[in-house]
Amino acid sequence: MHPAGGGAALGIGKASVRDAEVKGRRVLVRADLNVPLEDGKVADDTRIGASLPTLELLLEGGASVVLVSHLGRPKDRDPKLSMAPVAARLDELLDAEVKLAPAVVGDEVRSLAEKLEPGQVLLLENSRYEPGETGDDPELADALASLADLYVNDAFGAAHRAHASTHGVARRLPSCAGLLLEREVSELTKVRDHPEPPLVTVLGGAKVTDKIGVIERFLDRADEILIGGAMCFSFFKAEGRDTGDSLLDDASVEAAREVLPRAKRAKARLHLPEDLVLGRELSVNTEVQELNGVDVPEGWMGLDIGSNTAAKYGKLVAGGGTVLWNGPMGAFELAPFAFGTRAVAEAVAHASGHTVVGGGDSAAAMAEFGLADRVDWLSTGGGASLELLEGAELPGVEALNDA
Ligand code: 3PG
Repeated sequence: MHPAGGGAALGIGKASVRDAEVKGRRVLVRADLNVPLEDGKVADDTRIGASLPTLELLLEGGASVVLVSHLGRPKDRDPKLSMAPVAARLDELLDAEVKLAPAVVGDEVRSLAEKLEPGQVLLLENSRYEPGETGDDPELADALASLADLYVNDAFGAAHRAHASTHGVARRLPSCAGLLLEREVSELTKVRDHPEPPLVTVLGGAKVTDKIGVIERFLDRADEILIGGAMCFSFFKAEGRDTGDSLLDDASVEAAREVLPRAKRAKARLHLPEDLVLGRELSVNTEVQELNGVDVPEGWMGLDIGSNTAAKYGKLVAGGGTVLWNGPMGAFELAPFAFGTRAVAEAVAHASGHTVVGGGDSAAAMAEFGLADRVDWLSTGGGASLELLEGAELPGVEALNDA
């Protein structure tokens, strides 16, 4: 699914781990191992799997690896967000010994790092256990840098964060991009800047505000923008329609109100659903009806696109030279409201154009429908992929040494 190790020079303008001298060196690798946990175990190891090619390249090349990642957003040192389950899963997946450090930095961690033999991995504790991580604290960046002699950033999913382990430390060591980071930046930049036309962009999820930067950028670059998910109700509200009890937030309605007149003059055609699946409430056992139209009556909420919309979106996806999908079409985690998301997932899987799926929820949908390996690129980034698509510079990439 993530053949990040393959391919020739990806040309992101940054030094690459492919070219680094690693034999006998201790390498600090920042990965995005921020994975969902359930009952103290890793519930989805996609991000761990996506980090393997870089780790294998380094270990097979004779390096030892000090690995660091954040996990969730812990308050203080919440033991529920320890890296222990990640260490256990990584140890199963990697043909190398993986030890878990008792902390992120400190004397004990330094001594464990110094004892590492080539081919061994030391996974540090959750980087957000350190209060200085999110503030890009120079002392924490110094302490992390003192653990290794080369820094590799492979954490695409966290590259939009200017944190000590993604940004500060890169300025204190020779640094380069890992295989996953390179491939992510290269794939998403290509869709953003040089898509094979027609470019069909499918956007869903709860809030217009989360996707507003992408909508604005793609209004004049894409050919078709297909809107689904709860964010369509912000557009409907802005058009003065009835939205019943559907999920809405004021900022998104305001954003939709600004986008609508711009969309009339833009290159892209902005499509909103023509029919909907409604439920009384967000529950699997709720009463359900399909509405041939989009004015939602009181006492009902829109929870999926309808079958006509799904068929129309499927056709447009099939005709795309490039298809970019970010955000589910409805509450797909509940069976009665999964149809639209499944229809888009299947259309993306069968599309003949170049397909790229980003955002945790759409990637999870592809995985749930067994279609994850039918996409040309499945991004591990949520916020990071949106920021890159909007045209923002990612601090975790910018801080690396130039090629
Ligand atoms: C993600 O899951 O999108 C990344 O790991 C970043 O996590 P964050 O939003 O907590 O910084």
